[in-house]
Amino acid sequence: MSKLACVIGYKRGIGKEIANVAKAQGYDLYLVGKNDWDVKEPKLLSEAIQEKSQAYSKCTVFIVAHLGFEAINLLETLMNSNVGNLSIVFLGSLVTTQTRNSLYKYHIEKSASAQAVKQLQLQYPKKDLLIINPGWVDTNLIEHIEGEKIDPKVLAEYIFHIKAFSENFSIRTLSVDVVR
Ligand SMILES: NC(=O)c1ccc[n+]([C@@H]2O[C@H](COP(=O)([O-])OP(=O)(O)OC[C@H]3O[C@@H](n4cnc5c(N)ncnc54)[C@H](OP(=O)(O)O)[C@@H]3O)[C@@H](O)[C@H]2O)c1
Repeated sequence: MSKLACVIGYKRGIGKEIANVAKAQGYDLYLVGKNDWDVKEPKLLSEAIQEKSQAYSKCTVFIVAHLGFEAINLLETLMNSNVGNLSIVFLGSLVTTQTRNSLYKYHIEKSASAQAVKQLQLQYPKKDLLIINPGWVDTNLIEHIEGEKIDPKVLAEYIFHIKAFSENFSIRTLSVDVVR
């Protein structure tokens, strides 16, 4: 079966490892970096994905980059697109399940977008949207934080296992963390 993986945020960190695993698993890649699209124009990206995906029997879009609230527009646009046999994997975070005594932007954005993505799952029950919420992962994003972190290569492999599993067991959201 010919399959396409579109990885949004592929140059570093978790996205880079997802792209590597996808390639190793026989996916063709459509890689989208920061300068390849305008987050305010999700329809243009959705149309580009649709065009690319026409040659494939399956298309999986990994929304890896932290896009803040713009992720919601992109998700909704993709849900309403005509991309055939579309699956979406959205990278949330375990921080959304924790309360912090500070109002910092990333935490607030991640928590609010998590609510909205859950809402989209309810609104589009037939769409294949999987949310992965990792704990700390060893990437540049949290290099200032000390503590045990997940190896991004291991996380990327887990994501593909979870994705395969979710197709049979209807998993919608999963948290992945190191054992502390
Ligand atoms: N690291 C963690 O501990 C952790 C934990 C839980 C969840 N997450 C989530 O996992 C995701 C990836 O995190 P990460 O640690 O891998 O981040 P990262 O190391 O900072 O890498 C993010 C990648 O996304 C790209 N990017 C940024 N804005 C983009 C845009 N508008 N379009 C396309 N690509 C864009 C960056 O491009 P450039 O290389 O050009 O800057 C970079 O390659 C994020 O959603 C994050 O919230 C991370």
